[in-house]
Amino acid sequence: MDFDAFFKSELDGLHEEGRYRVFADLERQRGNFPRATRYTENGTQDVTVWCSNDYLGMGQNPLVTEAMKTAIDNCGAGAGGTRNISGTNHYHVLLENELADLHGKESALIFTSGYISNWATLGTLGHKIPGLIIFSDALNHASMIEGIKHGKCERVIWKHNDLKDLEAKLAAADPKAPKLIAFESVYSMDGDISPIKEICDLADRYGAMTYLDEVHAVGMYGPRGGGVAEREGLMHRLTIIEGTLGKAFGVMGGYIAASAALCDFIRSFASGFIFTTALPPALAAGAVASIRHLKSNQIERFAHQERVRRVRSLLDARGIPHMPNPSHIVPVMVGDAAKCKWISDILLDNFNIYVQPINYPTVPKKTERLRITPTPLHTDADIEHLVGALHQLWSRCALARAVA
Ligand SMILES: Cc1ncc(COP(=O)(O)O)c(C=O)c1O
Repeated sequence: MDFDAFFKSELDGLHEEGRYRVFADLERQRGNFPRATRYTENGTQDVTVWCSNDYLGMGQNPLVTEAMKTAIDNCGAGAGGTRNISGTNHYHVLLENELADLHGKESALIFTSGYISNWATLGTLGHKIPGLIIFSDALNHASMIEGIKHGKCERVIWKHNDLKDLEAKLAAADPKAPKLIAFESVYSMDGDISPIKEICDLADRYGAMTYLDEVHAVGMYGPRGGGVAEREGLMHRLTIIEGTLGKAFGVMGGYIAASAALCDFIRSFASGFIFTTALPPALAAGAVASIRHLKSNQIERFAHQERVRRVRSLLDARGIPHMPNPSHIVPVMVGDAAKCKWISDILLDNFNIYVQPINYPTVPKKTERLRITPTPLHTDADIEHLVGALHQLWSRCALARAVA
């Protein structure tokens, strides 16, 4: 077989469908968030990033960067091993304690990413619990889907956020079978929020465990940044809360928080936890500093919410359509793959604004969008510049305006 010819023909398919991903080559500027230097064939350019998942700018917060530097000075660069074989550093232990406390759980377990935490935990539960049925929301993240598939247990997909459909599917299942309902709080592309209480009520009625991915909520919701479940006083009703250290906490890594027995079970049986090098201690130290800060300070959260409201109100004033939702994610709807990519390119090249276009298969065709994520550090001038640029491009593309 001509392997390279095969690879190229598969890539040609992506190009033809307009799905080939081009990465922006950026260097984030420390202390100057949300600015970055963009590298191109023609040189460099300063840009303002409008699509970062460093939602609160904590990746640039001096408390976090100083904690990481200190940990490097104390411990060096890498962890030096898997958690079992020499790689457990004291910062990992501190971080797991901090996370268990954040979510009001007995225990927590960290992984190298949120993706791996979902994949390893759901896969291990599916594989090890005899007869487990996992009820998975139709819009769950790829890492949950892959984990559930990997577990090779029975899986039932319920319509997104549809309690009636979930209940019908729970009722149709074998009453004696162990069950787990897997869902997210904030869905990352539409920014909608699931009915956590009602899902927990159904779980109680049908004796199911609950698994909540709070990746797009931890740090940002709840008085201590414990997520939407904390804000709604529901953390105790969830069997497992999963989160990331890579978005609002500004670093990298993933975790679950749950009972001591459950965390010990995953720690002891999940290959994606056992057979991989532990997180660098500096990442764990940075995450501890970030979580501690966001537990005791509302400044970033309040400023974030205010900036989101400001972006939405300026978009409304110009009639730029954006999907209404109760979260911090502002999907500006274009509804055409080519125009979405063109607008993103012109924003970057002519206006120094970086927003990655979101096209199929990440979102359904005809719902192509610019997923805008305001942060506390975007200024009024940044917001006016963004909305002014969109206003011009909307006219140039003859895109429909929203009616007030
Ligand atoms: C809902 C959801 N869960 C999990 C992940 C994976 O988290 P991480 O980026 O830490 O791997 C993502 C990533 O974007 C996500 O959107």
